[in-house]
Amino acid sequence: MRGRTKSDEVRSELLRSAAERGASYLAALGQRSVRPSPEAIAKLDRLETPIPEKAGDPAAALAELDEFVSPATLATAGPRFFGFVIGGSLPVALAADWLAAAWDQNAAIDSVTPGVARVEAVALRWLLDVLGLPADADGAFVTGATMANFTALAAARHAVLARAGWDVEADGLTAAPPVTVVTGEEAHPTLIKALALLGFGRRRIVRLPVDGQGRARAGSLPRIDGPTIVCLQAGNINTGAFDPFESICMPARDAGAWVHVDGAFGLWAQASPRLASLSRGVELADSWATDAHKWLNVPYDSGLAFVREPDVLPRAMAISAEYLPAPGARRNPCDYTPELSRRARGVEIWAALRSLGREGVAELIERNCRQARRFAERLAAAGFEILNDVVLNQVLVSFGSPETTLRVIDSVQEDGTCWCGGTVWQGHTAMRVSVCSWATTDEDVELSIDAVLRAARRVRATG
Ligand SMILES: Cc1ncc(COP(=O)(O)O)c(C=O)c1O
Repeated sequence: MRGRTKSDEVRSELLRSAAERGASYLAALGQRSVRPSPEAIAKLDRLETPIPEKAGDPAAALAELDEFVSPATLATAGPRFFGFVIGGSLPVALAADWLAAAWDQNAAIDSVTPGVARVEAVALRWLLDVLGLPADADGAFVTGATMANFTALAAARHAVLARAGWDVEADGLTAAPPVTVVTGEEAHPTLIKALALLGFGRRRIVRLPVDGQGRARAGSLPRIDGPTIVCLQAGNINTGAFDPFESICMPARDAGAWVHVDGAFGLWAQASPRLASLSRGVELADSWATDAHKWLNVPYDSGLAFVREPDVLPRAMAISAEYLPAPGARRNPCDYTPELSRRARGVEIWAALRSLGREGVAELIERNCRQARRFAERLAAAGFEILNDVVLNQVLVSFGSPETTLRVIDSVQEDGTCWCGGTVWQGHTAMRVSVCSWATTDEDVELSIDAVLRAARRVRATG
């Protein structure tokens, strides 16, 4: 034991300063342009210096970050950011993240870092409950839905090949029985990337035709023969639509396939009694992937993989080494994740669920969906075409020709009141509105729609 030292004082002062700077940054977000100004971006050049030869003042490093980087950020944490299905962090989740960063725990082994291992185990149980998934499923805290898909699909790969008498972890894929992988035509590219990383080959994937909302057509499932993984989607990145789980999951599983669901944001519909009918039957799958940094509004990077059969995920992921403690009575998180060392990202999920409760999560999801419908109503009333059925939090708007729509998107971003991105979906160029933040009030939605309508008028006036 020792008394407080000078470096303890310096650290406390730095952390206080970071907290104050962070709080001031967030408090100002609602008033500033969502897009950073060209001047702020130009000033980033000032960071392009050689590495300092000598040690410097840590407080000066923090001050420089705040001076140059804070103004050059996109205000994704603010109330009027509607791009990429990105929601700002709940204050309690951000604060818990800061506290967990101070703990600096490696959340790999229960007996070594028991506090965070236990809090993550509780968070996992709560997540299964709030998402309506089987209570005895197991899971992993990973960096995002890309890695959640990868993790769950590694379990799928293990299971379907084990059933065919093949140990893929030991013997690899080179001489393995072929695995048929099926996805909808509008599967998210990161799902395809995860499949490619697992050695399934992008070109070998069987793509199911989709309907006018991007849903895989139920009757299009091919005859299942041999090791097969069927990947479905909860929440199409453009339309928010859901694949027909009820009509695909059971026939596929009965025929021996493993069914995986990419529910990066759409799986959260399960948390709302009003919206859960959208994802009816999703709980029948074998594995699921979702993001907590999307709709639970916790800081990056936070994805979740869940696997129905608790034994399967560790078969794909478990690790042992002489220098690591032997497994104890409780599960070691590193036997479920691709990584050995990682931050305890489940802590902020626990804090978010602890403070929102079941009702708060449902309210967040329902409010954002209602706000998305409001966007669609007012833009349609102004004469613009809404391309999708607005079932969730995604709205696709066309302002006329592709060129006109792109000019409106540019004009919206330049105006800075809000930020929406573009897409091309089923051949149509559209502005994409994703409502995904606890911070978005109904007033923010009205201000944003006013800004979009102003942008459309400006584009029309300039011909
Ligand atoms: C359906 C779907 N799957 C996967 C992803 C990838 O998620 P992440 O960027 O967290 O890896 C996204 C991202 O938007 C998505 O919408």
